[in-house]
Amino acid sequence: MNGGGLAVLGLALVAASGAPAGDAEHGKLLHDQDCSRCHDAAMYTRPQRTVKTFAELRERVQQCELAAELLWFEEDVDDVAAYLDRTFYRFSEEPAK
Ligand code: HEC
Repeated sequence: MNGGGLAVLGLALVAASGAPAGDAEHGKLLHDQDCSRCHDAAMYTRPQRTVKTFAELRERVQQCELAAELLWFEEDVDDVAAYLDRTFYRFSEEPAK
């Protein structure tokens, strides 16, 4: 056992805190390429939008990703959730990296 294990544990704790860990730049690319087939960005700003927390946002991204059969990695879902959060939902007011 070396110091690496602790670093991994630290990362897991950050992920568990619910703060978006994704890369929003990469998320935008994926989103613009694959997510405009059924709805456009008006979906994320509609008055009756259904997503109320970051966890729900990530869940919804995953559901749409599965529905669209995009076969993304977990990291891709994180990235798109981070992009949508930063651009539209703003659940976490994390300063831009
Ligand atoms: C197969 C069609 C389809 C595709 C492709 C699709 N979506 Fe959706 N999405 C929907 C539908 C239908 C709804 C609305 C459900 C409702 O009215 O509650 C929705 C709703 C959403 C919402 C919730 C908006 C809100 O706050 O109410 C988000 C976020 C979202 N989509 C993200 C995505 C992302 C990210 C992608 C790309 C992976 C994507 N969608 C691709 C069909 C799709």
